[in-house]
Amino acid sequence: MTIDGKTKIVGIIGWPIEHTLSPAFHNAAFKKAKLNWVYLPLPVEPEHLGPAVEGMKALNFAGFNITMPHKRAVIDYIDGLTEEAKIIEAVNTVKREDGGFIGYNTDCRGFIESLRRDAGFDPGGRSALIVGAGGAARSVATALAMNGAAAVTIVNRTPAKARLIALLIKENFAGCEVKVLAQNDEKILSDIKRSQLIVNATSVGMGNNPGLPIAVDGIGKDHLIYDLIYSPPETEFLLKAKSRGARVINGVKMLLYQGMVAWEIWTGQRPPAETMAETLLSELQRRVF
Ligand code: ATR
Repeated sequence: MTIDGKTKIVGIIGWPIEHTLSPAFHNAAFKKAKLNWVYLPLPVEPEHLGPAVEGMKALNFAGFNITMPHKRAVIDYIDGLTEEAKIIEAVNTVKREDGGFIGYNTDCRGFIESLRRDAGFDPGGRSALIVGAGGAARSVATALAMNGAAAVTIVNRTPAKARLIALLIKENFAGCEVKVLAQNDEKILSDIKRSQLIVNATSVGMGNNPGLPIAVDGIGKDHLIYDLIYSPPETEFLLKAKSRGARVINGVKMLLYQGMVAWEIWTGQRPPAETMAETLLSELQRRVF
């Protein structure tokens, strides 16, 4: 890679940022497409978010990605939002446009792309159950409702947080029936049975947070089980669901597609999909989280 006076700069802000996989696959894609761009990891502590965004504006960044814990807070420091980002109230991609820094949410599109392309699942008219009520669950619930899901049940340890997402869905997507259940509610079983898609959007199943997000009773061959976690590639939840005959998918393709959509937003070009996928997978294999 040659960096010179014409290099366009993008990057990712987060705290911590050491584990990010994004620089590897974005830079590989710039190289493959022969674009004079560079993608940097940018550690930004929460109390420095405002000055960091101002700094990127002053330094003529072409855009940037945003990860934990800034996806919501960054909204206060940018100049506009796309419709999706406005509804989800979270931004993971910013592009410099004529009106200043504009915030997008490509997690939403990344999730739907992976469902359609890799699992052959169209959410239109289907029922889904989402476990979790953080930022990831918010993007998934919005993506499903926006793409015609008939019903969404949100299950969370803290139901009050799930109710906030339910409210957002009710206000924006009248055609989607939405319901909230606590993690220990016995009615979950009947909601599992009527759902075709079950999504784990909690951190339960990661290395430092082992266990099952919900009991697997009722899960069977008619279900698609989507775990947003990609490290480990097969959580205990996916393994148990698979042994009961369900189809399963992990979060790596969502990560890939959200990155591809961001790359296209910035450059205006179709991203080199194979290069990005190969780089992401080899980085994942190389690392021990
Ligand atoms: P993200 O932005 O990735 O969604 P988050 O906002 O921290 O991350 O949300 C994490 C989700 O995992 C939440 O739904 C959280 O439940 P609470 O809302 O009750 O905090 C859920 N979660 C994390 N650890 C959990 C655990 N041990 N048991 C159940 N739910 C858990």
